Amino acid sequence: MQRTLSIIKPDGVSRKLIGKVIKKLEKSRLKIIAMKMLHMTRAQAEGFYAVHRERPFFASLTDFMCSGPVVVMVLEGENAISIYRDLMGATNFKNAAEGTIRREFATDIEKNVVHGSDSPESAAFEIGYFFNSFEIVK
Ligand code: CMP
Repeated sequence: MQRTLSIIKPDGVSRKLIGKVIKKLEKSRLKIIAMKMLHMTRAQAEGFYAVHRERPFFASLTDFMCSGPVVVMVLEGENAISIYRDLMGATNFKNAAEGTIRREFATDIEKNVVHGSDSPESAAFEIGYFFNSFEIVK
């Protein structure tokens, strides 16, 4: 069993895509074991994306991520990290496979509707960033 962090980004929330994303999750083999809506401060967005601090898109990305509410979830299942990454599709929606969340809904490489952890180490950091153990159901 593995866990991964999912975020429905501000574009997904403002475009009323929460239900559509959750529908795809519930059709998959992943189980939602924690969920909440929150609006990050700039400092919280910068802390979350600290690994990208040196990237040219860091300021724009963190601006975007604190521009409105997001929905954060913990997903659990066998190979949850790669299953969710397959479900999301490539970061750049133009390269995302047919049927993926980003292919269907994303409009921009940055405003790409969803985020998912890319490794067990980042999943542990990202889940701990938003949830304590009482907020995750067994
Ligand atoms: P995410 O999976 O949340 O991980 C980092 C985010 O940075 C990514 O999705 C995009 O939203 C954003 N991103 C990645 N590459 C670029 C890029 N070349 N230009 C702008 N934003 C990017």
